[in-house]
Amino acid sequence: MNYKSDFPIFENRPDLIYFDNGASSQKPQAVIDAVSKFYEESNSNIHRGPHFLAEEATIMYKNTRRTVADFIGAQKPEEIIFTKNATEAINLVARTYGEMLNEHDVVVLSRLEHHANIVPWLQLKERKGIELRFLDLTDDGNIYLNTDLIDEKVKLVSISGMSNALGTITDLPPIIEAAHDVGAKVLIDASQLAVHRQINVHQLDVDFLVMTGHKLYGPTGIGVLYGKEKLLRSMPPFLGGGDMIREVTTEGFSPTELPNKFEAGTPNIAGAVGLKVAIDYMFKIGFSKIQKVEHELTGHLLDKLTSLPFIKIIGPTENKSRGCLVSFTMENVHPHDIAEGLSSKNICIRAGQHCAQPLMDTYNLPAVARISLAFYNTKEEIDVSCEVLTDIYHYFN
Ligand code: ALA
Repeated sequence: MNYKSDFPIFENRPDLIYFDNGASSQKPQAVIDAVSKFYEESNSNIHRGPHFLAEEATIMYKNTRRTVADFIGAQKPEEIIFTKNATEAINLVARTYGEMLNEHDVVVLSRLEHHANIVPWLQLKERKGIELRFLDLTDDGNIYLNTDLIDEKVKLVSISGMSNALGTITDLPPIIEAAHDVGAKVLIDASQLAVHRQINVHQLDVDFLVMTGHKLYGPTGIGVLYGKEKLLRSMPPFLGGGDMIREVTTEGFSPTELPNKFEAGTPNIAGAVGLKVAIDYMFKIGFSKIQKVEHELTGHLLDKLTSLPFIKIIGPTENKSRGCLVSFTMENVHPHDIAEGLSSKNICIRAGQHCAQPLMDTYNLPAVARISLAFYNTKEEIDVSCEVLTDIYHYFN
């Protein structure tokens, strides 16, 4: 089945081959319509207004919280905090849970993390003097669980569920177990993973999880932090302002209950409305179907790229324990030239460091080119792109 007809951009741009889904996915018509309809028919601020439109908008916003909770297997909607993206969600944890740490405490990351899961912890290190430790990678680009690094000093292990630069999918249960064995909490950056695999935070027993709406076929500007209720309750608030307080005087304030405690100010209501429809759309297709289609496409992409002698795949070449994005280099051609060459033929990919400079340093690479697929892509698109890659190689060599 071809899902492209659900996505109007492909009708508006019939020649487009969109392989930059890891950066942001295209939006189904249903999501675009839901956002427009909200502004056309239901627009209002939430919570504050004692009128029917505010009530309607509030219900719509709340419905998304329930849908997101169901999507990731959270026990209660109150465990879902809306942020503007996954980056803000990690910063929220670093500036709340992180503020409760001190200089003797350790946060463990891995070398494949996105900058969004490194910089907030470096900033925390600057503020609080905590220690950071980095899990190394195996030869095939997986996180190597070195339990020597996870001792009683560790308070948090914060790792990616799927690498945005290598496509590797992390074997989470042993890492979560090792962290919990020493009493540390676990944060999963599921920005990529949540798009391609069904996640259940309750079964995984993760303490925090972050993801972002615009990769999940939803609007930009809406992200999610999941946190265990007890943990979220124990944390100080993040941003201060309206909606997050119980009481304010000129002397002080007291924060309100979850989830509002972490959602100061007017949130992205239309974004939340669109996110619900995006998740409903994914539910309708089903993860087993999404995974099957993407697995086949990834196998085809790996076969085609492997058959080109001037291409070197960075990361796993086997089509197992990996998601549907593949990074590569080309002999004597800079990744930016690869991306430009493809772009001139209407093919969109990403090239560069992929916000993962420590990972690039590990591989001693200045940059890589990345094809990141979605279930609406096709084998024909992969074939065409590999022909263009061959032309680019011959142009430069
Ligand atoms: N994190 C996004 C990417 O990997 C932007 O492209």
